[in-house]
Amino acid sequence: MNVDNTSAIDFKKEILRLKEEKNAIILAHYYQKGEIQDIADHIGDSLALAQIASTLDADIIVLCGVHFMGETAKILCPDKKVLVPDMAAGCSLADSCPADSFKEFVSQYPDHTVISYVNTSAAVKALTDIVVTSSNAMKIVESLPAEEKIIFGPDRNLGRYISSVTGRDMVIWDGACHVHEQFSLEKIVELKKKHPMAHVLVHPECKKSVQLLADCTGSTAALLDYAVNSDIKEFIVATESGILHQMRKSCPDKLFIPAPPEDSVCACNDCSFMKLNTMEKLYKCLLDESPEVTVDADVAEKAKLPILRMLEMSKK
Ligand code: 13P
Ligand code: SF4
Repeated sequence: MNVDNTSAIDFKKEILRLKEEKNAIILAHYYQKGEIQDIADHIGDSLALAQIASTLDADIIVLCGVHFMGETAKILCPDKKVLVPDMAAGCSLADSCPADSFKEFVSQYPDHTVISYVNTSAAVKALTDIVVTSSNAMKIVESLPAEEKIIFGPDRNLGRYISSVTGRDMVIWDGACHVHEQFSLEKIVELKKKHPMAHVLVHPECKKSVQLLADCTGSTAALLDYAVNSDIKEFIVATESGILHQMRKSCPDKLFIPAPPEDSVCACNDCSFMKLNTMEKLYKCLLDESPEVTVDADVAEKAKLPILRMLEMSKK
C-alpha cells in the first residue's frame, strides 16, 4: 500500500490498532530505538527473543531487530507470518561468515562439534550442531564432555572469551561485529579516570583488551541485570547504545555512560542495521504485512534442530 502523507499519522496509535486487528505481536531487541522498545510486547536479548517466539500464540510476529533474528523466529514458527520493518537490517557479524566458506571450514574438522552463535544466517545454522547466544554460550560449552572437540563461529572475540574461561580448546572462525570491535581501550581508561567509581560493562563481542577492563562481561540481558542489581551508581557501557534506554528506564537514579568508539569523538555506538527500523517502517510493515521473512524449507528444517537444542539446553 502506498501511504502518501505519513506526517499526519500517529504511528504509535496506528501500530497499536493494527497489532490488535491483525493479532500481531511485536518483539524488540534491546538495540532498537527507544520508541520501538516502548511499544513492543516483549523486549529482550537474542536468547529471550528466540525463547518468546517459540511460545507465541499470534498470527503475525514483527521482529524489530535484524534479519537473522527474523529468520530464527520464522524457523521456530513456520506457520506464522514473520515481518521485519526493514529487510536491509543485516548484521556485519553474520555477513562475516558466508555459508559456503563456513561449510568448507567445517569440512576440515570432521570430528568436531559445530557451535554457532545465533548471529548467523539460517544457512550457517543448517551446518551447525548447537546454536548459542551470548547469554548461554558459556553454559552450553561447559555442558559438553571435556574431550569433545569444538568449532566455534563466527565471533572470534566471543569464541576466545569462552575458550579462556572454560579452558576448552576451540577452533574459532575469524569473524567480528563492526560495532563491538571499535570500542577504544584508551578512551575507556580515560573515562575511568573521570569516573573512578564506575563499573565497566562489556559485551563479549568486544576485543580482549576491552574485555580485560570489564567488571561484568555478558550478553545485553546480563549487563542490564548487573546494572539493576548492583549497588554501584555509575557504569561505562561497552555495547550498542540501544541498551542504554532500558538501563536508564530501569535505574533512573544511576548514570550510564556510553563507552567511546575508536574513530569518533562522539559516543554514538549505534548498530546502523538495528537502527534502520523506525516507527514509520514498523507501522507500514504491519499495514502491508510486508516485508516478510522467508527461509528455504530444507534449510529451515536443518537449522531448526540446533536452535531447538539450544532452547532445550538453556532450560537445564
Ligand atoms: P545479545 O545476544 O546480547 O542480544 O547480542 C546480540 C547482538 O547482536 C550483539 O551484537
Ligand atoms: Fe550484528 Fe553487531 Fe549489529 Fe549485533 S551490533 S546486530 S552483532 S552488527
